[in-house]
This record gives sequence, C-alpha cells and structure tokens, in this order.
Amino acid sequence: MEKAINSVLISGAANGIGAACVEKFIEQGCRYIIALDRDEASLKAMQLRYADGDIIFIAIAADLTGQAYFSKLASALEPLTQLEALVLSHGVADENEINERDTFMRVMDVNVNSCQSIIAQCEAKLDKGSAVLFMSSILGKMGNHRNTAYCSSKHAQLGMMKGLAMDWARHGIRVNAILPCYVDTPLLRKELQKQADMVGSTLDQVMRKAKKRIPMRSYVQSSDVADSAYFLCSQQARMITAQSLIIDGGSSCGG
Ligand SMILES: NC(=O)c1ccc[n+]([C@@H]2O[C@H](COP(=O)([O-])OP(=O)(O)OC[C@H]3O[C@@H](n4cnc5c(N)ncnc54)[C@H](O)[C@@H]3O)[C@@H](O)[C@H]2O)c1
Repeated sequence: MEKAINSVLISGAANGIGAACVEKFIEQGCRYIIALDRDEASLKAMQLRYADGDIIFIAIAADLTGQAYFSKLASALEPLTQLEALVLSHGVADENEINERDTFMRVMDVNVNSCQSIIAQCEAKLDKGSAVLFMSSILGKMGNHRNTAYCSSKHAQLGMMKGLAMDWARHGIRVNAILPCYVDTPLLRKELQKQADMVGSTLDQVMRKAKKRIPMRSYVQSSDVADSAYFLCSQQARMITAQSLIIDGGSSCGG
C-alpha cells in the first residue's frame, strides 16, 4: 500500500475546494494538518470536527495578505521534520475594470503575493518528496470579461509554479497546479449570483443555464478537485512537476 502523506498545510481550508482537500487528506490517513483561512467561524467548526484522537489539526485564522500569522505558522511548523504537502487554495475572484487599481492590487495581493509569503515561510520544512500545489483556474490560461485582476493573478500563479518547479526539482520537491472551472463552491455561486442580479434572474436559473455549457452536464464538485490534489501531492505522482491539470468537465474544449 502507498505510504500516506503525513503532514499538509492547506490555505483557504475553511470552505469550498480547500475544505474538501482537508477532508480528503484526513480520509487518506494524513494526521498533521495546518489549516489557514480568514473565515474564523468555519475554521473553528472544522477544528471541532477533526481535532480528535490521533489527528493534530492546527487552525490559523488570518488574512493571508498580512504578516500577523507568521509567528503562529512558525510554531505550527516547528515540530515537523518535513512538511510533505502544501496546498494553496485560498483566493478571491472580484471583478474589475482595468482602471480599478484598488481591486486589481487587492486581488493580486490575495491570489499571488500571499502565495509567495506562505511558500517562503514553509521553505525550510519542504524537502525531498514534498509537493506544492497551486489552485489556479482555467482563467490562468484564458481571458474573461471584467476579470483582468483575476485572470492576471491566475496566470501569475502558473508562472510562480513553473519557476519554483525548476528551482526545486533538483531537491526532489515537486510543484504543480490545478486549473478548475465550474466547481460548485461559495465562490462560484457568488459569481453566478452577480450574473443573475444583472439580468434579473435567479441563481437557480443561471446555474441551470451554465450547466448546459459544461460538456459533461454536471458541475465539478470540490471532492473531484480534492481527489486530484491528493494524487498530485502523493508519491504516485513522483515524476510529475511543473504541470497544470484542468478539471472542468470538458468546458475549455468546447460545448
Ligand atoms: N469554484 C470554482 O469554480 C473555481 C474555479 C477556478 C478556480 N478556483 C480557485 O480555487 C480556489 C478555491 O476556490 P473555492 O471555489 O473553494 O472558493 P471559496 O470561496 O469557497 O474558498 C476560498 C477560501 O479562501 C479564503 N480566503 C479568501 N481570501 C483570503 C485571505 N485574504 N486570507 C485568508 N483566506 C482567504 C476564504 O475565506 C475561503 O474560505 C481559489 O483560488 C479559486 O480562485 C475556483
């Protein structure tokens, strides 16, 4: 049987894809989980659910664009000889026009700059066999209306992923990205709700219409993404690095 991943740090752990990753890693036998998110209430609920028996679940509630959490993260990492997996799943998808500098900078700060900070904080604990995973987006490869900030940030994540993969390949540390699309999470529903409001429709109607554009005629579930996230961090993927895996039910190919 394949050796379980023993330790993981997951950002954006409180909701959506990050929360599904927490569940998947625990289900697969991971027993040391560091969960980062600014959603304190959901993180606390998660901690109550999981911090039991032999699971060490360290929840750090923080806005990851700041540095206030650095000392808590250092303490959480301290007992580990190695952090085996680092999954970066926090993110925001605010729309913008190109002249809206505040939104642009904020999205870049959350989606890109904070990834650099987290990775840098973890670097000393990453070693041969460790894996880093970015949760980018299909918009890391494509464009979209009123989305220059988000598209730029998701393209930038792929740049960081590839550069880091080259820097760390010789140390046996792998770096990959997942490019999801149409994953039924709070983030997607928030975006589709905006579209519904714009055309005077309901979220349900917009979701039904959008589903017809997915060739597999089904929304991607967070657990689908978590399954691939675990695989990419596991030793089954030991020769896979600098890659981008699209999970979109076929949407980016055609309809
Ligand atoms: N849902 C989709 O269809 C979809 C598609 C493409 C890419 N993605 C990407 O997948 C990742 C996860 O998305 P999701 O759908 O699970 O979203 P989500 O909104 O359900 O979860 C994102 C989490 O990130 C946290 N977060 C946001 N900003 C933060 C900050 N500054 N500090 C700390 N925590 C912060 C939120 O609190 C939330 O718990 C994101 O990077 C997103 O861009 C999602």
